Amino acid sequence: MSSRTKIHEFGVTADGASVHRAILENDRGMRVAILSFGGIIQSIEVPDRHGLTGNVVLGFDSLAHYESDDYYLGAIVGRCANRILNGSFTLDGVTYQLDRNDDFGTMHGGSTSLDKRVWALEAIEGADSQGVRLTIVSDDGDNGFPGKVTITATYELANDRNVLRLSFEATTDAPTVVNLTGHSYFNLAAEGSGGVGDHLLVLDADAYLPVTTELVPTGRIEAVAGTPFDFRAPCRIAERIRMGDEQLRLARGYDHNFVLRKPDGADAFARAARLVDPLSGRAMEVWTTEPGLDVYTGNFLDGSVIGAGGRIYRQGDAIALEPEHFADSPNQPDFPSVELRPGEIYHSRTEYHFSTVAVGGGDAGMRGLAAGAGVSA
Ligand code: GAL
Repeated sequence: MSSRTKIHEFGVTADGASVHRAILENDRGMRVAILSFGGIIQSIEVPDRHGLTGNVVLGFDSLAHYESDDYYLGAIVGRCANRILNGSFTLDGVTYQLDRNDDFGTMHGGSTSLDKRVWALEAIEGADSQGVRLTIVSDDGDNGFPGKVTITATYELANDRNVLRLSFEATTDAPTVVNLTGHSYFNLAAEGSGGVGDHLLVLDADAYLPVTTELVPTGRIEAVAGTPFDFRAPCRIAERIRMGDEQLRLARGYDHNFVLRKPDGADAFARAARLVDPLSGRAMEVWTTEPGLDVYTGNFLDGSVIGAGGRIYRQGDAIALEPEHFADSPNQPDFPSVELRPGEIYHSRTEYHFSTVAVGGGDAGMRGLAAGAGVSA
């Protein structure tokens, strides 16, 4: 039997707007909660290898926590995700000054951006999926960005596969820049259970973007070969994250864009990452049309917030895998363009594929599992 999206009232914001929560539940034991506030994924519950369900993303119980959250837990970020140096860029000869919400410039669209707004939310039903469509209009001049941009974000959960899809569409009435992504922090052993150091990670990337002391890309593209950024073969995160590497020191872990291997073109739909928790057996693959993947190991989580399960979040307790165009793209002519013009439609699609892997024997066995052996859907 296929279930249907359920929507109920979740809370009221400090300035009186009512916020709804949608629950998507499929026939394979997966359950996802999405808020109209920030388009936030509040929880993703998936079975482990024994069928025990756990929530694999960081999040909060209450709306008030989300309203004051600085970590963008589970939110949709934009209009132009990630860092823009000095909060400024030039398009068609006009220089725009954006709202600066960080020392280096503008982060994730500026203050009170898409992650802190209430989106219109409606249930949708596909032939073999259920979901929600979220819509928002970001006015001309919003946080300094030019053009009135209409954005649709759609979450769809397959009824009989543990696949969650997030797709975006956007249009504008004047030339602008758009870069949207979902900002979920994953811990496949369950949120609040500790660090993700023992998770095995594969990244489908041969190169990454080194950053400056302000964690903005330098503009150089560097091969991962021979560096701690080489996750082309499955590797425990803990094996690499403490290597005495200057880039890892600057970011206090991973907080870098990886250049995805896209033999069929930069916007082709391809796998970006595979993450496996050997203990629970939960595995996740991220597939995307985006050219880049921002990998962020929760380096700023400092033990100052208590998450949904009543546990404190600390550095390394999760990994965010954010498919997106590269950070600071509006200022980097050699990066894939984030420009959007009237008449064009911005499209972006990302899928999170959950599965489980059988118990492996020793380290070699685990590496085989991470590479895809022993998968049950
Ligand atoms: C990430 C970014 C980090 C940090 C985080 C929010 O997307 O890469 O540097 O700003 O968002 O705390």
